[in-house]
Amino acid sequence: MNSALKIAVFPVAGLGTRFLPATKAQPKEMLPVVDKPLIQYAVEEAYAAGIRHMVFITGRSKRAIEDHFDTAYELESELEAAGKQTLLELLRSVRMEDMHFSYVRQHRMLGLGHAVLCAEHVVGNKPFAVLLADDLMVGEPPVLAQMTEQFARLGRSVLAVQEVPLEHTRRYGIVDGKAIEDRLTQVERIVEKPAPEVAPSRIGVAGRYILTPAIFRHLKQLGSGAGGEIQLTDGIAALMAEEAVYAYKYQGKRYDCGSKEGFLQATVELALQHSEVGPAFKQYLQQLQIQ
Ligand code: UTP
Repeated sequence: MNSALKIAVFPVAGLGTRFLPATKAQPKEMLPVVDKPLIQYAVEEAYAAGIRHMVFITGRSKRAIEDHFDTAYELESELEAAGKQTLLELLRSVRMEDMHFSYVRQHRMLGLGHAVLCAEHVVGNKPFAVLLADDLMVGEPPVLAQMTEQFARLGRSVLAVQEVPLEHTRRYGIVDGKAIEDRLTQVERIVEKPAPEVAPSRIGVAGRYILTPAIFRHLKQLGSGAGGEIQLTDGIAALMAEEAVYAYKYQGKRYDCGSKEGFLQATVELALQHSEVGPAFKQYLQQLQIQ
């Protein structure tokens, strides 16, 4: 197995039902936080971790993602003709020429594990990252780069984790295990969306994974798990019987942009930090009479 991490998989085939009607005809990963779609934040995070091959697992109504990572000739020539250099630079801020993009269609929505399995023929026998773009991660260094550093040392799968409120365990894969270092645990149990009464801990998996290719074999052997889907969590549980899997408590902040509340939090906080609109937006918020 080649241990350098070169490929990232972005499962974007989900329906995004929590954001209807906004997601009726466009993918939720194209929803913008301030001025950038969620998927671009995730691609930039993978790029910052040294990854240059981006693989999207797509479904129906996801064409906008392909178009987003392509040259917009008409728009560029209009902006050029109008001398709008700043806007042109913004448009070209994704350096597409030094990345490869692959698109794989998930024909049936059979769960996150199935979506990851759809990438097998592109990824091959190499480790790879999985990024769920609806988890917007802010960290310095970027969260995936922190994980890549751990992976380079450990050579085994690494899951991004964080402490979650007990009443929210049903929203996460929950892990438990043996503490190795300050931020590192060797996972001994992983359970998909447990009720608080039976959750093995309050350590929840966030939408960033680095996986060894052995995961594909385990995902193939799995039948459908909770909700009739192939769960990535179940694949990871099977992988653990064969090789070590680590949970890494990342430094940074996660916004659950798959939920309206998380999306609004990300919008407000990132708007406040935005160089163009931040100061004026802060003033606006300060004068709001919030009861
Ligand atoms: P979610 O559980 O957030 O589902 O999927 P969703 O459909 O995107 O959103 P809601 O819950 O209906 O609002 C977690 C991630 O797995 C991907 C989704 O795109 C999302 O990034 N996914 C899920 C797939 O790519 N394929 C699947 O079959 C299921």
